[in-house]
Amino acid sequence: MGTSTGQPSRQSLETRVLELRSQLQKASYAYYALDDPILPDEVYDRLYRELQDLEAAHPELVAPDSPTQRVGEKPATQFTSVRHNIPLYSLENAFDLAEFQVWEDRWRRLEPQAGEVGYVAELKIDGSALALTYENGLLVRGATRGDGVEGEDITQNVKTIRSIPLRLALENPPPVVEVRGEAFLPLNVFEQINEERQAKGEARFANPRNAAAGTLRQLDSRKVAERKLDFFAYTLQVPEGKEAGGQGGKGAGGQKETKAVPESPASPLLCPAASQWQALQQLQEMGFKVNPNCTLCGSAQEVGEFYDRWDTERLQLPYMTDGVVVKLNDFDLQRRLGFTQKFPRWAVALKYPAEEVPTVLEQVSFQVGRTGAVTPVAELRPVQVAGTTVARATLHNADRMTELDIHAGDTVIIRKAGEIIPEVVRVLTELRPAEAALAHMPSHCPECSQPLVKPEDEAVTRCINSSCPAIVQGAIIHWASRNALDIAGLGEKWIVQLVERGLVHSVADLYDLTVDTLLPLERMGQQLAQKLIDAIATSKSKPWSRVLYGLGIRHVGSVNAQTLAENFLTVDELAAAEPAAIAAVFGIGPEIARSVYTWFQLPANQTLIKRLQAEGLQLAADADAIAQRQSAPRPLAGKTFVLTGTLPTLSRNEAQALIEQAGGKVTGSVSKKTSYVVAGEEAGSKLTKAQTLGISILSEADLLALLES
Ligand code: IVH
Repeated sequence: MGTSTGQPSRQSLETRVLELRSQLQKASYAYYALDDPILPDEVYDRLYRELQDLEAAHPELVAPDSPTQRVGEKPATQFTSVRHNIPLYSLENAFDLAEFQVWEDRWRRLEPQAGEVGYVAELKIDGSALALTYENGLLVRGATRGDGVEGEDITQNVKTIRSIPLRLALENPPPVVEVRGEAFLPLNVFEQINEERQAKGEARFANPRNAAAGTLRQLDSRKVAERKLDFFAYTLQVPEGKEAGGQGGKGAGGQKETKAVPESPASPLLCPAASQWQALQQLQEMGFKVNPNCTLCGSAQEVGEFYDRWDTERLQLPYMTDGVVVKLNDFDLQRRLGFTQKFPRWAVALKYPAEEVPTVLEQVSFQVGRTGAVTPVAELRPVQVAGTTVARATLHNADRMTELDIHAGDTVIIRKAGEIIPEVVRVLTELRPAEAALAHMPSHCPECSQPLVKPEDEAVTRCINSSCPAIVQGAIIHWASRNALDIAGLGEKWIVQLVERGLVHSVADLYDLTVDTLLPLERMGQQLAQKLIDAIATSKSKPWSRVLYGLGIRHVGSVNAQTLAENFLTVDELAAAEPAAIAAVFGIGPEIARSVYTWFQLPANQTLIKRLQAEGLQLAADADAIAQRQSAPRPLAGKTFVLTGTLPTLSRNEAQALIEQAGGKVTGSVSKKTSYVVAGEEAGSKLTKAQTLGISILSEADLLALLES
């Protein structure tokens, strides 16, 4: 096409582009979704290149679903978070068939009329869940699960997964179709990535699930494309009011009959799915890869047979599985059963027990974490467990070591279960060699040689030397991490060198670094040094919530940091807050409050805050937020409240937060200075005292009215 003789007509160009696109789509579907290639690779490559050339010469002919559009040109700078149209629930676990029976009995009590039912048993793929949105048949969004309500928009990366169609194979698609499924890395790719990482001195991914999740969150989609992620679809939903039925209890409706795209690889959707089994069928017809190892069971017994069979057969599969997901087939029944707070009542994950494998413990090493916690780690003769090579396993803490009576040279049993890092479950003492030496916690820190401490009532042994290099390193790694100050390029290898060479003793020291101080580092160059310095400088503009998270206060993860930063608009406010005031914030419990309070009491931390302030980091919300709060009505300013008894709807913390937001103060005891006592049921002596002193007594309703005013 379009070679030597003159210009091809506009129309023939368009026709050729359409033809190529359709042929490539067909070939790609056959190759990636059906595992049944229809074109030799060279032919595919030539057609692909022809399309690429045509599109380059006529950019107006590029369509979003063209096979050439799977890999983005430019890396993203960050992902935006998106709210899922329909939340992604997780599943309740059953760890054996008896627990499955308990689950069945439970739903049957809610639907006593159900009688014989069908279950769809699907393998539980150990990957990363994705939510795909198609509008008018076109893939418009791919998002991670996130917390189930909000995830991250990773559309560009999702497009690189060849088994995900960019356009549904439907001539007349519903306006919106939501497809959920699992993105995963084949085991061989996983091993290969880990070998590469190890060779580069980077940490290995603990399991294929982490590797898949990590890959999906790469900013450069070209790198994602190299990783050969794959995808199995398992949920089809057409949101309410937008035709057709689906899982998740989201309404059935009349989907119009549709016809197949003339050259589409699949047949059309003819009717709304009434069951999971049909939905799986339809997903396949729409161009998705559906795991073939699933079955429609007529009874719990048949589910048991499927579960038993795959317990061993799954180990031959080229991807990792960790159980069987059992779903009630009938969507009507699913809708009637609905959801608990967390899970659908109509599905359960029937997990396989973690795989246990023997190996030899070569020695025990001790790792010092960012909080100073010292963790004993078993260094093992490498062994395959549940599809991955394990060379290290945690021994948790000193008590656990004593309990295991572990000796270097022992034969030990390693277990790896789903998300859990490998652990030593048992020691085969009968196989212990005569020369084996008992392993024990060191008395001094392996990193800084200072004495370790172990409080009586705690399991953790800690190094409490805040200038211990391991603690400093950990703190800086955390500070530079993505959800904290996100300092691009400041990876572990640089941090280790910076700390080892004494260039950095705390996160504040990062801001005193210069290109010249960085240059002596191994494998550092002028350009790279400049980049790092720039990235460090950029972190000064990161918001207060990120800085707070970056401080690494125990129990303050990124969500808590955000909540605290929204409620305490400046570091001075937070540092001055009593534990009760911190715990009064909705979502912050007493343990978190105590940890924050204690952190700010330490002189070393106070100094750190002062230095960060001096360096220009954001230790307060932006001026707008502060101004907004200052101009917000404060009807209770200057009033002092005492809370007593149980209020009908508000918890004590909630009431306190409401009062404080309105400018009031809450104290613990009644005095002449008290403006109001808010009394609920079973109010005791505080109420009596208020009555004696003639202080106004409010009910919850009165308080709410006062706040309204
Ligand atoms: S159904 C409400 N089916 O397992 C429906 N999930 O432990 C929930 N998973 O978050 C999902 N294979 O990431 C379903 N065949 C399958 C699955 C599967 C793997 C994952 C999924 C889910 C997690 C729950």
